Amino acid sequence: MAELEPVLTEAQIAKRVRELGAQLTQDYAGRHLMLIGILNGAFVFLADLMRAIELPLEIEFFGVASYGASDTSSGTIRITKDMERPVEGIDVLLVEDIVDTGRTIAYLKEVFLSRGARSVKTCALIDKEERRVAPIDVDYRGFRVQEGFLVGYGLDYAQQHRRYTGVFQLKTGD
Ligand code: IMP
Ligand code: MG
Repeated sequence: MAELEPVLTEAQIAKRVRELGAQLTQDYAGRHLMLIGILNGAFVFLADLMRAIELPLEIEFFGVASYGASDTSSGTIRITKDMERPVEGIDVLLVEDIVDTGRTIAYLKEVFLSRGARSVKTCALIDKEERRVAPIDVDYRGFRVQEGFLVGYGLDYAQQHRRYTGVFQLKTGD
């Protein structure tokens, strides 16, 4: 039986999203900001974050999948949904649910820099810094979580559990 152990409450997330929004509002004033939500997990975070940024901004979505097991990313990443609009000269902020090994973000940074973005930074709700394999930093991070497989607030396990308003650790008892 799978059990859910609370990690972040709805109120904690809301407070942190307001803080991130205030920081981004300062840092991106006067810039051409585009938030790119990485599907599927980031859509809930993106929806809240964009309303906490008091600046003109564009949003887009980008889909990636990594080959391999469902609960850990492998080295090979492929694009499952690309964007129509160009990013040349634009300040891109990649919005992720979780940065884990960092492979996905490292790959996406390359993609958008090679397409001519003026800058590419990362905002992640959760940073599992201890598990990093690729040498990348999260520029804006909501929370640091050391371990465990997390679900809720957009995060899934096998496409389930995304609907919860908080974040939980999924414990699979033997
Ligand atoms: P990375 O390439 O290893 O950084 O993997 C990042 C991606 O793996 C995230 O966008 C998530 O989709 C997924 N992921 C990593 N850890 C978790 C987790 O605890 N719960 C749900 N998805 C996760
Ligand atoms: Mg993801």
